[in-house]
Amino acid sequence: MSDDPKPTVPDSPEEMTRRQFFIKVGVGSVAVAALGTAAFGYQYLSPNVLYEPSPVVDAGKPDHYAPDSVTLDPQTAIYVVRTAEGFFALSAICTHLGCLTAYKPDLGIIACPCHGSKFKKDGVKIEGPAPRPLPWLRMWLNDDGNLMVDRGNAIAIKQLVRV
Ligand code: FES
Repeated sequence: MSDDPKPTVPDSPEEMTRRQFFIKVGVGSVAVAALGTAAFGYQYLSPNVLYEPSPVVDAGKPDHYAPDSVTLDPQTAIYVVRTAEGFFALSAICTHLGCLTAYKPDLGIIACPCHGSKFKKDGVKIEGPAPRPLPWLRMWLNDDGNLMVDRGNAIAIKQLVRV
């Protein structure tokens, strides 16, 4: 006769045996590990891309701009300048330390509030610590007749859009 304890048998069908309990714990652990592995695997395999807004801005119809005007769009940090010869776009970001500049209509200049750089309406520096003029940005008319500006594409040659 052996001294082995008798296996416990549940009194009712709702009670689980020790073996059933450990099976459920084991299956649950494997499921949690599999979910964690799947989550890390998905994160590892998904592209590490930074989604940024397009640098191309629709500046609207040319008629929206008064003759001989300088219009700042603070959202996109561009100036749309309308002259008698045509349109052009300037970056409104100061070339010193990157502050947003402002047009002073009473003085007819663009001024930086941070360290006092001043620029003409065509971006040429008048005074201040800014090392370069405000860059001209590529501008064109799209098929709908809207002025389009590419903020990511500074141009060296001053090109006017004639309407
Ligand atoms: S950031 Fe414009 S002058 Fe310094």
